[in-house]
Amino acid sequence: MKSLNPTVTKSWKNLKKHYLSIKNKHLKELFKSDPNRFKKFSLNFEDIILFDYSKNRLTSKTISYLINLAEEFDLKNSIISMFQGKKINFTENKPVLHTALRSSNKTNMLNNKKDILLKIKYVLQKIKLFSNAVIHKKWRGYTGKYITDVVNIGIGGSDLGPFMVTEALKPYKNHLKIHFISNLDGTHVIEILKKIDMSRTIFLISSKTFTTQETITNATTVKNLFLNQPKVLKSDMDKHFFGISMNEQEVLKFGIIQENFFPIWDWVGGRYSVWSAVGLSISLSIGYKNFSLFLKGARSMDQHFLHAPLEKNIPVLLGLISIWYNNFFNTETEAIFVYDQYMHKFSTYLQQTNMESNGKNIDRNKNIVSWQTGSIIWGEPGTNGQHSFYQLLHQGTKLIPSDFIIPINTHNKINDHHIKLLSHFFAQTQSLAFGKSIEEIFKESNFKKEILKDQSSLNNDINIYKLCKGNQPTNSFLLNKITPYTLGILIALYEHKVFTQGVIMNIFSFDQWGVELGKYTANNILVELKKNNLTTKYDSSTNALINFYKLNRK
Ligand code: F6P
Repeated sequence: MKSLNPTVTKSWKNLKKHYLSIKNKHLKELFKSDPNRFKKFSLNFEDIILFDYSKNRLTSKTISYLINLAEEFDLKNSIISMFQGKKINFTENKPVLHTALRSSNKTNMLNNKKDILLKIKYVLQKIKLFSNAVIHKKWRGYTGKYITDVVNIGIGGSDLGPFMVTEALKPYKNHLKIHFISNLDGTHVIEILKKIDMSRTIFLISSKTFTTQETITNATTVKNLFLNQPKVLKSDMDKHFFGISMNEQEVLKFGIIQENFFPIWDWVGGRYSVWSAVGLSISLSIGYKNFSLFLKGARSMDQHFLHAPLEKNIPVLLGLISIWYNNFFNTETEAIFVYDQYMHKFSTYLQQTNMESNGKNIDRNKNIVSWQTGSIIWGEPGTNGQHSFYQLLHQGTKLIPSDFIIPINTHNKINDHHIKLLSHFFAQTQSLAFGKSIEEIFKESNFKKEILKDQSSLNNDINIYKLCKGNQPTNSFLLNKITPYTLGILIALYEHKVFTQGVIMNIFSFDQWGVELGKYTANNILVELKKNNLTTKYDSSTNALINFYKLNRK
């Protein structure tokens, strides 16, 4: 992977100059000057996803300079390196192979790593057999009754992916009720246990390391409650507890038998692991056939990412457009608004994908970066956001690029809900782009133009407060429908967008050393909290906070 200071590249310099010439251009102007703008800045993926990037503050020149930037970083070869299993996770000395999890014999590029493919196939087969056994009520609990509930115990990548996908694909689910415990707060485990009958529940303990404090604490609490039930034997755990991890030893030590162990591997990052056995709850929830379609969708986006020319490559364009705003317009955040209630966890899921991958400040040459890296990702499902924070998007002072996503076909046809939802989707991207001028406001309020003496009388009028300046950029994605296949495409699309950004930001996107500090500090403070004497070993704030707790705990 090429390591360059992006700010000294020819393309970056061109982009900087170009930015000065375009930064005040309004989208109204860009659309007015080119009636074919949509045609020029939109792509169709397999006739099931329309990607419209015409409502961005860019021109063909912008795109060509951004493509040049990708070429200066030799992005294409970086993409191939990932698929070939090169150790691009440099600081952890590992390959990055979440794409292998969803590859096929025809598509994989792991020539000298066939053993990896065999391991993946073995685990997929195990997922399939187990899912079928539970779904078809062959698998029984210790009372002999069939299983009704699945509880996934994990956090971060061992929770967010399965949670988001099982929510998003609820229309495909079977009789099994799927629950997720992630937070260390005892409330989470207590509230979920209230909903289930342990004798008819299977517990998936999902942790790549099998040492994450939150997960092991939750899992141990559940295990002890399970074993403390009357007449339950230790061996009954074999019918109810399963381990998903790369740490087989710790799984067995926990009391899970080898047959109930689903391996994952260190060449898949937690935030990219939904395609592995971490996705077992997905397969249980929607069936293995749908889980395979989910993998197939991602595989199809992988092929697009690998083979489409940069200027027609959707994840590449998304990543480059992000860099255009983040590094030239100096935006700090990006929003993702999905107009589909089942997809309510999608933005949250992408927070880890983006911010744990690109929230870095040391470049691939071991220098502190002098440019912006990862953006803050946020979002809520539409239309709810419209009644909460869209005001700031329309009339605030922040430039916030956002992605709008909607299925044109809903799973729940009821009255005129969906056509109204679509109307909001189209209206919002249009209003954000073109705003509403004073003239339009006055026209709406039947204000007669002749009364208008001049701009100052205009400004004295209350209507000035209704001005929406527009020029807020958006990407629009119209999906045919949210299905296992299209969701697989969409997630892979954003994974590859993050990859594109990381390559050009000259950072390592696949480690996460920053999260280790918090874990280490918490373990030290935990020891301190268990002592009764007042704490003096830390800074005055931490000492005071801890001592307030110690003096007031019940
Ligand atoms: O947040 C740090 C992190 O290591 C994530 O990368 C990971 O998804 C999560 O914690 C959980 O880790 P594990 O799967 O090892 O429990």
